[in-house]
Amino acid sequence: MSKTYFIRTYGCQMNEHDSERIAGLLEMNGYARAQDPESADLVLFNTCAIRENADKKLYGTLGQMKRVKDARPELRIAVGGCQVQKDKSLVLEKAPWVDVAFGTFSVAELPRLLREREATGVPTFEFAEQTETFPSALPARRDDPFHAWVSVSVGCDNACTFCIVPFVRGPQVSRRLRDVLDEVRRLAEVGVVEVTLLGQNVNTYGRDLDGKPLFADLLRALDHIDGLRRVRFTSPHPHDFTPEVIDAMASSRVVCEHIHFPLQSGSDRVLKRMRRSYRSARYLETLSIMRGAIRDLAVSTDIIVGFPGETDEDFQATLHVVEEARFDSAYTFKYSIRPNTEAASMPDQVAAEIVAERYERLVGLQERIALEKNREMVGRHVEVLVEGCSKKDATRVTGRTRTNKIVHVAAGELMTGTFADVVIGDAHPHHLDGILA
Ligand code: SAH
Ligand code: SF4
Ligand code: F3S
Repeated sequence: MSKTYFIRTYGCQMNEHDSERIAGLLEMNGYARAQDPESADLVLFNTCAIRENADKKLYGTLGQMKRVKDARPELRIAVGGCQVQKDKSLVLEKAPWVDVAFGTFSVAELPRLLREREATGVPTFEFAEQTETFPSALPARRDDPFHAWVSVSVGCDNACTFCIVPFVRGPQVSRRLRDVLDEVRRLAEVGVVEVTLLGQNVNTYGRDLDGKPLFADLLRALDHIDGLRRVRFTSPHPHDFTPEVIDAMASSRVVCEHIHFPLQSGSDRVLKRMRRSYRSARYLETLSIMRGAIRDLAVSTDIIVGFPGETDEDFQATLHVVEEARFDSAYTFKYSIRPNTEAASMPDQVAAEIVAERYERLVGLQERIALEKNREMVGRHVEVLVEGCSKKDATRVTGRTRTNKIVHVAAGELMTGTFADVVIGDAHPHHLDGILA
């Protein structure tokens, strides 16, 4: 009987996508997917390092796994991803019951590491500092037949002072345009209707390639792929959002009317200290150009509260930009110190109570705006791509609009992966309710 595996993924979409590659590799090497971690022969954690609580969570979970392994010594535990790239052999010092540890550049080595673990009886690891194989060259085991992640680049050449990503994912390496398009074409041929292009800074895509293809070229080329209905991408950096990209989005059939546009802070003083190269006025200006060019554009963002040295006045500036920008949704984070980053050694780290209080105010404001924006949708017809049954209510399905809004539709019989014409009946801050038109 073949061995079974279970993967738990933390962090962002890049990690979700890496986990599909990890699953694909394991299945190619004779493993089958387990229904739950309790019954699996191999439990694998694909980790994240973006904020400190991710760190704490992993070591807590590994502590629990020790008890499982004491009861079931044949269990194998593997850890990979960004936190492993950050901690390296520290992982095996803190949790010596881990069998295999591999960094972000070593995904392709996993089958070999697992075999070596069996052959030697001791933990094995690999923490390369750069990749030999672009992860996309590995087989993928995808969960959804209708949606796929497609990576256009890995790594990041920026040095935002709060961010650990460049340390754990290295400098930007883009994939050849032809390879990206080939992959999307193959996906569309097997029924994928929606792809999300992934990169830490998608709009500097191609800068490191021969011929320097532009992100806008890539978006334009995707328009010609038969069967493809929706293209999303994450994350663009506001600094690199060129008129060409806006134009490519505006004239595209497939690129969705949604953009994730990370603000981080509304204070120019803080943006400077974060080493984010745009300023609030330019950010708002780009936003207004995009909204002028792309009808019904929905905008989401990321905001950090309590960056070192953030004063009340700085925070007010963030609230002000949030009022002005009227985001459809925002991922809000409390600043978290990350080792080796420049911000970690900045003076005047903001006290936790102040951060908590600012955070609540920001969330309150954004919820109000999100609800107002969603209310504007009531009565309108939208195209919903059905993603599955609603978790809470079997008579409803859940899907997304092109603008990335979650819609619960009262029609339990709609098939996953199909499109439905829906009328919006009710609005909430984080989702909409609708009925079939
Ligand atoms: N490349 C993406 C960001 C990836 S990290 C971009 O530039 O937009 C996702 C989000 O996590 C960031 O946008 C930021 O808001 C948040 N983040 C990153 N480092 C953080 C830190 N040290 N503390 C709190 N939030 C952080
Ligand atoms: Fe981190 Fe900045 Fe790169 Fe985004 S652009 S991954 S925030 S360094
Ligand atoms: Fe986390 Fe790594 Fe993504 S640090 S947010 S999983 S790139």
